[in-house]
Amino acid sequence: MIHSKELVEPIVIKLGGSVVTVKEKPYTVNHDAIKRLSKIIFKNYRAGKRLVLVHGGGSFGHTAVSEISQRKGILDVIDVAFVQYKMLELATIITKAFIDEGIPVTLYPGHVLCRKSADCNFELLYEDLENGLVPMTYGDIVYGDRGYAIISGDDLAFWISSALGARKIYFVTSEPGVLDKEGQIIRRVTNIDQVSDLGTKGYDVTGGMKKKVHAALEYSSNHDVEIRILDIDGLEKVLGGGEAGSIIVDSQKRLVNRGRRK
Ligand code: IPE
Repeated sequence: MIHSKELVEPIVIKLGGSVVTVKEKPYTVNHDAIKRLSKIIFKNYRAGKRLVLVHGGGSFGHTAVSEISQRKGILDVIDVAFVQYKMLELATIITKAFIDEGIPVTLYPGHVLCRKSADCNFELLYEDLENGLVPMTYGDIVYGDRGYAIISGDDLAFWISSALGARKIYFVTSEPGVLDKEGQIIRRVTNIDQVSDLGTKGYDVTGGMKKKVHAALEYSSNHDVEIRILDIDGLEKVLGGGEAGSIIVDSQKRLVNRGRRK
C-alpha cells in the first residue's frame, strides 16, 4: 500500500466497456448509460464518498485491437498509438459527461500509470483523492521492449485497490450480476465452477465474465474487500446502502478478521 497513515479508503468502480459503449457497434458510445452513471456518481461524490473510476474498452479498445490483429497479425507501434488514441477518445467523452454533471474527474491514461502490465505507479491518484478529485483511468495498451501488452481495466481496478487500500470494488457490467444457467443472479459466488461461460457480445480481447470472476476470487482470497459484479441499477442500490448484484468471495479466504491488512 502506498501510505501507512490514515487512508481515505476509496471505493473503486470499474465501468465495463459493455456499459459505456455499445459493444456490438464499433466505436459507439452509450451516452444514455454514461449520463445515468454520471448522476449516480455525482450524488455519491457529493455525499462525501471517495471514488476512483476505471473504465473499459468496449467497442473502442477491443474493436481496434481485434480488427488490427485480424488484418496484420501483430500490432506495430503505429497500431498501438492508434489504439491508445481510440481509448483516449472514449475516455474524454466520458470525462466531459462526468464534469458536466459536476464530478471533478481527473483523467489518467492507463499507459501513463503503467509502463507494462503490473508495473504501475498510483501515487498521483492517492494525492488527487486526498484533494477531493475523482481520479479516472481506463484499460489501455502499452508498448515496450517485448512488443505490446494490453492492460485490462479489471486488472487496473485490482491493482489500484491494492495500492490505495480500497475495501469495496464494484464492477458495473451489462448484466445485473453473475448469472446461472436459468439467468438468475448468483448472489454469492465462492467458486469458479459456479460460473458458466456464456460467451460475450462483440469483441473481447481481455476475457469476459469467467475471467473477471476468476480474478475477483483470487483477489478476495488475500484482501479484506467487498467485490461485487452488478449493473447500473445495482450500483445505485449498493452505493445507497442496499443490496444488489453478485458478491464474489473466495471460499478459501485466508483472512479471518475484518481488521486492516498491513
Ligand atoms: C480493454 O479494457 C482495453 C483495450 C482493449 C485497449 P477492458 O478489458 O477493461 O475493457 P472491457 O471492460 O472488457 O470492455
